[in-house]
Parts: sequence; structure tokens; C-alpha cells
Amino acid sequence: MSKFSPPPGTSDIFPEEISYWHRLEDTARRIFPLYGYAEMRTPVFEYTEVFKKGIGDETEVVQKEMYTFEDRGGRSLTLRPEGTAGIMRSLAGTDVMNGNEKRVYYIGPMFRGERPAAGRRRQFHQIGAEDAGRVAPELDAESIAMLLHYLDELGITGYKLLLNTRASREDRKPAEDSLRAYFASSISTMCQDCKNRLERNVWRILDCKQEQCRDAISKTPDIAALFAEPSRKYFEKVCSALSAMGVPFEIDSRLVRGLDYYVHTVFEVTHPGLGAQNAIAGGGRYEIIVPESDKAIVGVGFAAGLERLIMAQQSLGIKPGEGISAPLVFLIGLGEKARNENLKLAFQLRKAGIPVGAEVEEKSMKACMRSANRLAAKFAIIRGDNELSKGVVVLKNMADGSQSELPADSLIAHLQTLGK
Ligand code: HAM
Repeated sequence: MSKFSPPPGTSDIFPEEISYWHRLEDTARRIFPLYGYAEMRTPVFEYTEVFKKGIGDETEVVQKEMYTFEDRGGRSLTLRPEGTAGIMRSLAGTDVMNGNEKRVYYIGPMFRGERPAAGRRRQFHQIGAEDAGRVAPELDAESIAMLLHYLDELGITGYKLLLNTRASREDRKPAEDSLRAYFASSISTMCQDCKNRLERNVWRILDCKQEQCRDAISKTPDIAALFAEPSRKYFEKVCSALSAMGVPFEIDSRLVRGLDYYVHTVFEVTHPGLGAQNAIAGGGRYEIIVPESDKAIVGVGFAAGLERLIMAQQSLGIKPGEGISAPLVFLIGLGEKARNENLKLAFQLRKAGIPVGAEVEEKSMKACMRSANRLAAKFAIIRGDNELSKGVVVLKNMADGSQSELPADSLIAHLQTLGK
């Protein structure tokens, strides 16, 4: 490991890549408000309880992946492994609890102590959107449609929408019993985690990635048929709303998702350009218990992983566009006095919205020109004592080498026309 590498599972984002990120963020900021969503920001760490209660004690995320620490005041805090629980902790203090709808989106880093792999990071970034406060199948369909609209705007094609229902908590009871009966017959060959899950939270078995459990999981009977009627009806309405909007989907009856707050609709979007970690986004309807309140907050939403969206774009040959903007002018001062004056001039030009590069140290003319070329500046502005006393600057066109002299006090206006 190079001593210049960041910790495992984290990455530096260099200026050359940043325009991918800007596009993902700018597109979210353009598309989501069309659906009535406003941006919201919550802390990067929360009380540990927010995630334990919100995501569920039995989930992999809570049991194995959280970055939990005690602060100096003895509080147990956790770096957020996802955005929904924190957003709901925050909205629980608003009139969302009285059935008033609130639509918010968020952009930021999340933290999970997973084994790093391609597309699996310990610090990763999500763009998520939550529609909190109301329950209706049409809202679930609309949230999904907005996600796909977003992907389309990013130029991401070839994705697949997988859809399933987890039913309401009451309506899934009979299915849960039959799932337990099914796994009981093969549990002796399954991993220790699944053995523990059998009684405590049998649904989590469907999410197990262990080789020894795969066979039994792949043969799971279709349990959705055992969900009580209201939940089956709810799901039918989600499907027909999606079809009405022309959104293609595939039903995946084993999709349960790794977080315990889901009820009814769950979905994932996969992309073939990613390899094993192929989910570029996931979401669903949820009921989240907020600490210090027995009431659940309801909502529907999704989060997309930004690193994975970029991988999907790269697999499609989508280029990041201009990342680093070249300066329009590069200032070269011959002599100390001119260099000092250039410091002032650079500040004035930048305040006028003109991108500027400058040589601040004493360097030869040749070295200064090399720097101007390296930055791909369009013009060099050169002056020494002689030009200073005449109140002029020399403007050199870097492309063809032509130069002209112009009054220093008309420089800003002149550059503003050149920059257009
Ligand atoms: P999630 O499926 O855990 O859902 O994460 C959403 C997306 O974040 C994934 O589809 C993936 O693209 C990305 N992601 C997750 N873990 C990693 C990782 N270790 N490295 C890189 N990318 C990752 C949630 O987080 C829910 N809060 C989504 C939601 C919002 N459900 C309702 N509202």
C-alpha cells in the first residue's frame, strides 16, 4: 500500500473526474424539483439508535457494517450508512406525522464497513429522494418513474428495473410462517447467520450471499401468493401505475432488500456494465420507527450510488466533459514591481469573472510561457517596468503568437469580449 493512498475502501476524486460528479449532482438538482422535491441536508453522523431502530437490528448493515464510535460525551454515534433513517429522524419533528406530504432529496457520503471491491466502497456517495407522510401505490410508482427519468437524463441506458412487494407487516405473516417452514428443512446446511435468522428474521435469509446458502435460497417457493389480499391489491396498483406511465419492469419475487424498514413495494435498478455489484439504485416504501417516539413515519424513496452511476456511464463510453477550465489569460510580470501589480490585476480580473493563471515567482520568460501552455491559457498578458510606466499591457495570443499592446484600463472590457 502506498503511503499516499487513502484508507481502504475510500477514494480521492481528482479534478479530472469531477465533472462526472457535477453532472450527477446538477442533473438531480434539475430533475427532482420538477416532481416537487427540495434538497435537504442532515448530519453525516447520528445517534446509533437512529440506525438500529430505523434500519433494524437484524440487518447486515447494522450488525456488521456500521462505523460506530463513542464521542467525548459518552454518546454512541454512527457515521450514516444510508440517508433515509436520518432524514426521517429529522422529519419526525414536522407535520409529516399528521399525514402531510414532504418531498426531499439529498446528496452526500455514506459509510459502510464492507469488504472493498469494484463498486463496493467504505465511503460511497448517494443521491436519494424521499416522499414522506403519505401512503398510496401511485406515489410508489411516481418515485420509481422519477428515478428512471433521472437515469435517462444521465444518458444511462440498458438498465433493468426489478420490482417486488414485501407486503404490509400484518399481511406478510402467513408467508413468513411458510418461509420459515421451508428453510427449516435445509437450515442445518446453511451458515450460522442464517441459522440465527430462521427464528429472528427469516426474510433476511433471502438476502444471504454465502455460497452454502445459495441452493436453498434459489429454490424458495413463490411466497408472494401467500400475502393477504390488501397487500396484493396494493402491489397490483403499483404495477398498473407503472405500466400506465410506460415504465418497463421485471418482477423478482426474491427481492427483499437489505434494510428492515421496507413494507409493500421494493425495487432495484441493475446495470450490466458493473459486474457483481450491479445495483445502481434501490428503494421502496417504508415505515420507520423514530427513537423517542413509538409512531412510525411512512414514505417511499430510493437512493442511487454515485460511484456506480459513473461506472455505468463509463461502461457506455459517456465522457465526463470539461473538468478543469483553462484560464483565459496567464499573467507574466517581468520584474518585482510588475509581479506585485499582477497580483492586484489577477484579483480584479477574477472578480470580473475572468479565469486567470499567473506566475508569482521570478521565472524566465521561457518558463512562464511553458506554464501558460501547460494550463492551456488562450492569452498571455505580459508587462515589465516599461509597460507599467506607459500604462499598457502586451496581449499575446497563445495559439498564433501574435501580440498587441493595449491600455491597462481597457483590459477587463477587452477580455470580456474575447471570452464570449
Ligand atoms: P441501498 O440499496 O442500501 O439502499 O443503497 C442504495 C444504493 O447505494 C445501491 O443501489 C448502490 O448503488 C449504492 N451503494 C450501497 N452500498 C454501497 C457501497 N458499499 N459502495 C458503493 N455503493 C453502494 C439504501 O441505502 C436506502 N436508503 C434507499 C432508500 C431510500 N430506500 C428508501 N428510500
